[in-house]
Amino acid sequence: MKLHIHKTKEEVAKQVAKYLSKLASDKNDIHIALSGGSTPKIVFQELASHYADTIDWTGIHIYWGDERCVSPTDNESNYKMTADLLLSQISIPDKNIFRIHGEAQPAEEARRYAVLLERVVPYFNGRPQFDLVMLGMGDDGHTASIFPESKTLWNAPENCVVAVHPISGQERITLTGRVINNAREVAFLVTGTGKAEKVREVIRKEGNFGNYPASLVSPSPGELHWFLDKEAAAGLT
Ligand code: 6PG
Repeated sequence: MKLHIHKTKEEVAKQVAKYLSKLASDKNDIHIALSGGSTPKIVFQELASHYADTIDWTGIHIYWGDERCVSPTDNESNYKMTADLLLSQISIPDKNIFRIHGEAQPAEEARRYAVLLERVVPYFNGRPQFDLVMLGMGDDGHTASIFPESKTLWNAPENCVVAVHPISGQERITLTGRVINNAREVAFLVTGTGKAEKVREVIRKEGNFGNYPASLVSPSPGELHWFLDKEAAAGLT
């Protein structure tokens, strides 16, 4: 596990963008699953403004770790957020973008995406292996769209499953542990004081860490990175 702690979330974003750029320069064909939520926005803006012309985007294949079951034009859509802030600002071929169809029937889409991953993402350990899975962590310790209330989804035999947000009831499509933990690299991106307690519990394996899906992230073949600002890392010092 590698901790990358930086003063501000802006600095975190710069470092994550640099890390992604290095991944892209080290290997000319990489498959990356992006996270949703608000934290990655600042990274996508950094990539759009400083790496549009320095990264060869034709060698980058973009997927999502999870998606809300809404239309791609809905402001809740992780795809829409990524398209607005990043994909529309860089020259990446459409064929490199593997959107989860939030508008489709959830169970059917989970099956479709699971088959797509088998077909397009390189294999390792008998399952799809991403070069990088980017993850956020919710205040409740969820990651991707695996929530504490339905933590068992993490061990589902499928690559993707349908999850339900415990408060809003919103349906989500999410990758499961068999794919996330098979990645060559996993990078958590967590900022803000609201996450500090959970970050401490998960990283130090203290308190109720066992209840949090984020504590199940442990890429066996790969490296786990935590990109944190000082606020989110406050419980670690
Ligand atoms: C989503 C995300 C989710 C997110 C966390 C953190 O679709 O919402 O994939 O797992 O990463 O909820 O969200 P914030 O970055 O907004 O705190």
